[in-house]
Amino acid sequence: MSNMIVFGTQWGDEGKGKIVDILTEEADIIVRYQGGNNAGHTLVTGGKKFILHLIPSGILHPSKTCLIGNGVVLDPQVFCAEIDKLSDSGISITPERLSISKKTHIIMPYHKDLDQAREIAKSGKDKIGTTGRGIGPCYEDKMARVGIRAGDLQNLDLIREKINKALKEKNTLLEKLYLQSPVDSEDVFAHIKPLARRLVPFLADVSQKIQEACEKGQTVLFEGAQGVQLDIDHGTYPYVTSSNTVTGNASAGAGYLYNKKKVVGVVKAYTTRVGQGPFPTEQDNEFGAHMQYKGAEFGSTTGRKRRCGWLDLAILRESVRLCGPTEIALTKLDVLSGLETIKICKGYDYQGQLVEYPPQEENSMELVNPVYEDFPGWSQDISGVNSWKNMPENARKYVRLIEDYLKVKVSIISVGPDRDQTIRMS
Ligand code: GDP
Ligand code: IMO
Ligand code: MG
Repeated sequence: MSNMIVFGTQWGDEGKGKIVDILTEEADIIVRYQGGNNAGHTLVTGGKKFILHLIPSGILHPSKTCLIGNGVVLDPQVFCAEIDKLSDSGISITPERLSISKKTHIIMPYHKDLDQAREIAKSGKDKIGTTGRGIGPCYEDKMARVGIRAGDLQNLDLIREKINKALKEKNTLLEKLYLQSPVDSEDVFAHIKPLARRLVPFLADVSQKIQEACEKGQTVLFEGAQGVQLDIDHGTYPYVTSSNTVTGNASAGAGYLYNKKKVVGVVKAYTTRVGQGPFPTEQDNEFGAHMQYKGAEFGSTTGRKRRCGWLDLAILRESVRLCGPTEIALTKLDVLSGLETIKICKGYDYQGQLVEYPPQEENSMELVNPVYEDFPGWSQDISGVNSWKNMPENARKYVRLIEDYLKVKVSIISVGPDRDQTIRMS
């Protein structure tokens, strides 16, 4: 047994889905442990594209088992739609292959209403730019100890009671504070009832499934969503998501101790961000436009244009110290082809001092000035390169520089969206 974990080191969308899909070949079980359908993980195989929001990225491999852990927040409507879409593509999803923890919290329609109402009510810099999928409000109910959990779906009377209780508070907020229409409890119940019927067969004790697999010597792959800078504690608060995205949360969110073996930090060769919030190396210019266009940087969940900028070693150092990657999967290196000069941010000038890590005060990331090192680019298209030795010299130097700065080896280089466009270094 050699368990592994794959996590995003930046602001999400690093290419975790592709890397999980590839590493699934070495795993038996793939488990999601946090986040919800705010995630959008894209897998491309043989030119065919799949975007998964909730179901683990191992699902395209028919012999593998996928699990949704207790740390995830699950929208039943999205879950069923995703299963149906995969079935339409010939990938059959049965409870033998996919389980949901009975402790997973359920995103209800009023969570989405509240998420959206709050964003509408905010203006300017107060907006977070959430995905509007009800993620924050669902995690709030979990912490307030009033949430609905997947296991509750087995008891419709309990669901009705919990909906009624929840709506007393939610409707007051929606009507009085956000000036929106109230939600009718019978409508919510009618919405959830057929979905509950579909979900119940997938319920399981996910902790036990992982434990049994490990006892049999099988390999479990823990699939992270979002990225370290979106972590509720360690990210660019308040412009973050509502879960802990750091690897330390894998154990709590999957229900099984993750004992560090293989920890793969996914690093995009540049940086992107969707939604509001500070982004020190953002390039609102021809370089950003190059990355946005060549990298097809549109959000896989909301379709929003992703903001683009240079690689930022300060945030990557923070990811290394928080998450302990044993190796790096470097993605989208092909996107940098054609740039005469590439910049890497080595640290920040913050209040007149050079700092190597993001400062800790709220909104201090708005005040830092990146300190760059210039680096000669390469002109060749590398999307067809399939070995390290065939890489242009300057691309190799770029990879080595990242390794040297972060003191972590690059084990995978991705040069295109397809499974085949991948170089394994060992
Ligand atoms: P995730 O959320 O971390 O799984 O990343 P997303 O799937 O949201 O975004 C990554 C995007 O880049 C997807 O459209 C992938 O198909 C694509 N992608 C992944 N790796 C590469 C790569 O090496 N090169 C290029 N050009 N695209 C890639
Ligand atoms: P994957 O797993 C990129 C961002 C949103 C917003 C902030 C809060 O595909 O990398 P939320 O709806 O979570 O309350 O929104 O977090 N965000 C992501 N950005 N990739 C993601 O997931 C994201 N999930 C949330 O854009 O800025
Ligand atoms: Mg994504």
